[in-house]
Amino acid sequence: MAASAASVDRSTVEVLPAARLEGELRLPGDKSVSHRALMLALLADGESRIRGAGDGADVRSTAGIVRSLGASLVRMPGTDEAGNVDYVVRSVGAAGIRQPDGALDCGNSGTSLRLFAGILAGQPVEATLDGDASLRSRPMARIIEPLRAMGASVEGSEGGRPPLRVTGRTPLDPIDWTTPVPSAQVKSAILLAGLSAAGTTVVRESVATRDHTERMLRARGVAVRSRDDGGGGGMVEIDGGATLRAIDVDVPGDPSAAAFWLVAGAIHPAAALRVRHVSGNPTRRAIFDMLRRMGVQIDETPVDTPVPGEPVADLAVRSGELTALELEPVETAMAIDEIPVLCLAATQARGRSVIRGADELRHKESDRIAGIVDGLGALGAKIAAQGDDIVVDGPTLLRGTVVDSLGDHRLALTFAIAGLVAAGRTTIIAADAVGISYPTFFADLERIRS
Ligand code: S3P
Repeated sequence: MAASAASVDRSTVEVLPAARLEGELRLPGDKSVSHRALMLALLADGESRIRGAGDGADVRSTAGIVRSLGASLVRMPGTDEAGNVDYVVRSVGAAGIRQPDGALDCGNSGTSLRLFAGILAGQPVEATLDGDASLRSRPMARIIEPLRAMGASVEGSEGGRPPLRVTGRTPLDPIDWTTPVPSAQVKSAILLAGLSAAGTTVVRESVATRDHTERMLRARGVAVRSRDDGGGGGMVEIDGGATLRAIDVDVPGDPSAAAFWLVAGAIHPAAALRVRHVSGNPTRRAIFDMLRRMGVQIDETPVDTPVPGEPVADLAVRSGELTALELEPVETAMAIDEIPVLCLAATQARGRSVIRGADELRHKESDRIAGIVDGLGALGAKIAAQGDDIVVDGPTLLRGTVVDSLGDHRLALTFAIAGLVAAGRTTIIAADAVGISYPTFFADLERIRS
């Protein structure tokens, strides 16, 4: 078979169908954990070693900002077998944060921008957080409002978009805030600001979003109390004034990256894939169980880790028959980053899949509802947006054509997996977007295909 993933120019990649998918994959270090490990190393007093951080452009943006804010950050030479990197960060804690010289460039990364806004809101600095065209189009009122309620000055451009000018205040006022949309970034921004508040800050959410910030603050000696409300949501409380202990972190593999291979293994007719060392954090693993509901056989073997943190597992997946899946809005929120690739799985599943309440996807790195409907539709899928729902009828035979990632990593990754099962050639425009979260993706794809 001809070269499977040929780079046509810098950013266009062609994928041909694979006869077989077989082998073992090590993944990028979890992006959410990598960001937080770097940020909390800045806030901690002492030396933090971060092993196996993802080396995508988003995490690099965070590393650059940690350095701009005054920490000594050393990126160790070389990468591990998965292309991940180690960092050693030395800091004197939040008190050492210095006034940055220019705008802090978050690139494409919403997590960097929103979480640093929370950190800087409680520091005696004035800083501008900015990013690329995609990030400049994303909504920030959801963090501007709570941070202002805490006493920081936060100014966005028109419609509350980046760049954001943050003028911090110390101490901040504690707040009791109910998030308007389920968002771990909003929750985390408020909790990080809450570290600098004079009292206890409370965040309430209708869907319990990923809890890395809470776990990682606790591991550094901060009292963070969480309670679920018995209905899928919950509240988190943090006391202001705590100091963070510097610790070492082993970053687990990213379950959102694993999802691409799990779907590849499930929909390809001749596949047997193992994905090693994946975070099985309960707030991230919904996608595994959704695929199982569709009939996908995923074997999970827990792995002991030397440094306690996230639960970690090895996963194995093989080809199988898929049936359609219906998701309620709460479930959609629990797998928000995996919905594009779940739509691809649905194109190969028998029956009508309905993903309800997907509106938040319009506010990601691109309008992911439009992007996935257009892209998978062009490949021959029966997929439509109905209000905030996505409806997919399957199974359909996909046929390769030209699809546009819109510069969105999760769309580029989804279309590349689609190309492994589509007849003929799938040409992905702006495929270099995979470098945001998964720079070694096309090399991995070449390795496991035949
Ligand atoms: C993230 C939270 C989610 C997710 C993003 C990473 C995080 O965003 O989509 O990829 O690390 O906190 P929202 O908080 O906007 O839902």
